[in-house]
Amino acid sequence: MASDKGKQVNTPTPEAKTIYDQAGKLFEENKFEEAIELYSKAIDEYADYSSSFFNRALSYALLSRYDEAQRDAEKVMALEPDTADAPYVMGVIREYQKDYTGAMDWYNKSLKNNPNYTQAKDRRKALEERMKSGTPSKTKIGADGGSETIMEEGQIKRVGWFTSDQTFKDVVGMEKQKELIHDNIILALTKPELLRAYGKKLGLGVIFYGPPGNGKTFLVRAIAGETKCKFIIMHINEIMDMYAGNTEKNLHAVFEQARKNTPCIVFVDEVDALGTKREGEQQSNMRMAVNQFLQELDGVEKNPEGIFVIGATNQPWDMDPALKRPGRFGESMYIPAPNYKTRKAAFAYNVRKMPLEGSINYGRLARASWGFSQADIADICDKTALKVAAEADRTGKRRKITMGDFVQMIKSQGTSLDEWYAMVKKEVISKTETQVIDGKKTETIKEGKLTPEEKTRYKPMIKDIKKNLNPININVKKFMRAFAIYLF
Ligand SMILES: Nc1ncnc2c1ncn2[C@@H]1O[C@H](COP(=O)(O)OP(=O)(O)O)[C@@H](O)[C@H]1O
Ligand SMILES: [Mg+2]
Repeated sequence: MASDKGKQVNTPTPEAKTIYDQAGKLFEENKFEEAIELYSKAIDEYADYSSSFFNRALSYALLSRYDEAQRDAEKVMALEPDTADAPYVMGVIREYQKDYTGAMDWYNKSLKNNPNYTQAKDRRKALEERMKSGTPSKTKIGADGGSETIMEEGQIKRVGWFTSDQTFKDVVGMEKQKELIHDNIILALTKPELLRAYGKKLGLGVIFYGPPGNGKTFLVRAIAGETKCKFIIMHINEIMDMYAGNTEKNLHAVFEQARKNTPCIVFVDEVDALGTKREGEQQSNMRMAVNQFLQELDGVEKNPEGIFVIGATNQPWDMDPALKRPGRFGESMYIPAPNYKTRKAAFAYNVRKMPLEGSINYGRLARASWGFSQADIADICDKTALKVAAEADRTGKRRKITMGDFVQMIKSQGTSLDEWYAMVKKEVISKTETQVIDGKKTETIKEGKLTPEEKTRYKPMIKDIKKNLNPININVKKFMRAFAIYLF
């Protein structure tokens, strides 16, 4: 909710103001869709109603409708060039879109317009902390005296080192995965002599796979923080260059740097982008890139002393088949959506720095978020804080966040996973279709796109996807959520 204070452009008609106030009540009750409708009506009554635009922007942002939110925030800035809260909302939008540098710029702009704007200050501080504990390779980082990736005319001259303060302590749940990673990666990096004594190879390629937003990237960053070893994040988009030849040279440069700095981890996030089908000339470029990548991986396999290649993907079946052969990304590890216990822990983790009123029933929150991803939970906690902060800004009274605030926010948000499961359905599910041809019933089996080998390899994920598409399970989930939200 915006501050109405001191906005000269806000001289709405009484009708518009009445509608605006009604919208505010709906906003307070987390009925964002309905609030948006009324804010739009208020704007119809009075076209330059910047407070309405601002609050509508906030409502859109809370519903993850960022394009619309941005349009409204821009409108507010056009109406009131000196505003501090429209740039603030722009910052929030950028943050939700994971563009942290962009978010920082907007918070700074907001604070330039109003240096005492507490909300912007708070978020900037939180963001600074977050950026410290997981700096993308493009940002300068201390360790080696600057670690920016240096490119010249499409060619990588030096790859940036990635460092992170994030450790396994920050990773909620995933106990089994952490143990496996400890034994197979951390030990090899921190105590190579121990493994050597047992005749273990020191290097490997592993794929982390699972539905989006459940900590694949997060986990790998924590590995960087745990081991403090040399760490390269390879961004496929940075590597790919439109000039044939540059892409291969870039790939080679990454692995050359890794070879000269062992032990070293090379992390290829969203590795399915390598091998995605493209048209025409782009396709042959991609082919060459994949071949070069395979060559580099084979080099690692022949002489595996201390190079670890980790890939992550939401859609492992989109990966180039050649990448999956033993000795390349030979191992794979499933990173599932959080179970009840992990969701409970995730809520406790995400609210740990928030001012809380009374006791929070984490079990109830975990049940109300049945089927939600880690990212969904992080989002819900953040949006709750945003909403209460906005309320404090409007009323001028600060209050703590209550259990009710979280429940209300969960009610207004869905899970991003349901949509994802529906999207991948056709890839993994085979179904029997009955057709009547010439009066005869024939059954044809429509196969999912997976090969038998893929079905075996990604079994835990396929099982999860099928379970989440099962109508009985969908209803149980709905019931559990409703029960936790409305009753207890
Ligand atoms: N195990 C976890 N512990 C704490 N936060 C997590 C965890 N997993 C995911 N998150 C939160 O969810 C966000 C998205 O996770 P991310 O690793 O980007 O997912 P993906 O699996 O798609 O790579 C993270 O930025 C973090 O805020
Ligand atoms: Mg990721």
